[in-house]
Amino acid sequence: MNNNSPERVTVPSILARKSSANKISALTAYDYTLALLLDQAGVDIILVGDSLGTIVQGHPTTLPVELSHSIYHTECVARAVKHSLLVADLPFLSYQVSPEQAIESAGKLIKAGASAVKLEGGIHMAETVNRIVEVDIPVIGHIGLTPQSFHRMGGNKIQGRRSGSGPGSKDQIIADAVALEEAGVFSIVVEGVPKELAAEITKIVSVPTIGIGASNECDGQILVAHDMLGLLPNFSPRFVKRYAELGEAIKTAIGNYVKDVANGTFPASEHMFSSAQSDKAPNGKSQFIRVN
Ligand code: KIV
Repeated sequence: MNNNSPERVTVPSILARKSSANKISALTAYDYTLALLLDQAGVDIILVGDSLGTIVQGHPTTLPVELSHSIYHTECVARAVKHSLLVADLPFLSYQVSPEQAIESAGKLIKAGASAVKLEGGIHMAETVNRIVEVDIPVIGHIGLTPQSFHRMGGNKIQGRRSGSGPGSKDQIIADAVALEEAGVFSIVVEGVPKELAAEITKIVSVPTIGIGASNECDGQILVAHDMLGLLPNFSPRFVKRYAELGEAIKTAIGNYVKDVANGTFPASEHMFSSAQSDKAPNGKSQFIRVN
């Protein structure tokens, strides 16, 4: 774990980071292994994003993700998390039908191990947010470029460039942020908007803003971990900094394994058991147990 952040991150501790010089870091994870690494590296928020539809399931949008998928991946991630705040996304059509449906869906994600949920939408979702918060389930809002609005937006495009009214306008996005704050969110993800708009929203609302493709004006940042780790070779948008090229590293490693197996150099003697040897690892545990 990062020495700067040994404590468990909580909803109140995120709220307290509004306007802090110590900005909030957030990344996505959908499985135990990556969640363990993110948690140990000290990330503040781990999001089981509905981006799992594109990253894990290979769909072109997040729309096909079902609540049962989010629950399953939240359970996997929850087994790893000891430090970070675990937030789970409400997938498309698991909360828009009615506030009752939203409370039930959010409750299932909490039972799966999340400490909070995230949903997309502003003014039109305010009543729903308020009802979820009333049963003590903390909510993060998500405005600007909302991937579940893919068809209305005509694709995942930068929002908030034009003035006037209507979805996607600057004024509407500001009104969305204010409505979410009044409804009781403890944070707002602001996605795909110009720097000036991100700055204005961050100034207006009293809860932390967490940006993705929304400049350095927000109180924190979130990225899809697979993007910043360079796992997908053909996806490198402007708003992502690639901190590693793991996709290339994995391909090289697999290629070497394939060669070694083909020519018989793997397994070597150090990878084999003899009848006289103990099957315990140097730490005394079984060689076959992975999970701590
Ligand atoms: O689903 C997701 O990954 C998100 C982002 C904000 C990263 O909602």
